[in-house]
Amino acid sequence: STFKIGVVIGSLRKDSFNRKLALALAALAPDDFVLEHLRIDDLPLYNQDQDGNQAESVKRFKTEIVSCQGLLFLTPEYNRSIPGVLKNAIDNASRPYGQSAWAGKPAGVVGISVGAIGTAMAQQHLRNVLAYLDVPTMGQPEAFVQNKEGLFDDKGHIGIESTKKFLQGWMDKYVAWIKTHNA
Ligand code: FNR
Repeated sequence: STFKIGVVIGSLRKDSFNRKLALALAALAPDDFVLEHLRIDDLPLYNQDQDGNQAESVKRFKTEIVSCQGLLFLTPEYNRSIPGVLKNAIDNASRPYGQSAWAGKPAGVVGISVGAIGTAMAQQHLRNVLAYLDVPTMGQPEAFVQNKEGLFDDKGHIGIESTKKFLQGWMDKYVAWIKTHNA
């Protein structure tokens, strides 16, 4: 059997480093892990008045989440927190009350930024939100990736050997985490 992983990227930018990192991580995943990008750019701004009449894009997003065996979040850090687009996606799929799509889905949290401690604060904020939503989130290893010249090679793979080794170790633990929660 295969494990479908819903990948949620907290950046809408075409050349997003977090998107690139998601693709590079997919190349480090085993064959029985299928990483699927869940789009969030067409979700409406969350409005509680729409809880009884959720947009098609919200229904689709929730259905996709429910069909996954695990989640992988890649978040930029915006002003020491998660981007609004990511929080908006999380809020949309958490409602109506009692009908959250998130509950029980095991997750990994990763982020890349241009700053040295970049995404550490964002990842902590994200973990706080996910804890409330009953998303079991792998605690270790943490992955705070700083963008550098040559980090991504011309095929989009990790081009720095030490980083590749670290991220392969991260992926191996993540795979075990997802399997444990789907046993
Ligand atoms: C940033 N950036 C940033 N970086 C960081 O390490 N800590 C921060 O608090 C912030 N704050 C911040 C706010 C806003 C509004 C922007 C647009 C950017 C820089 C950020 O790391 C950089 O833009 C990354 O490239 C964003 O990730 P993507 O879009 O490449 O995935």
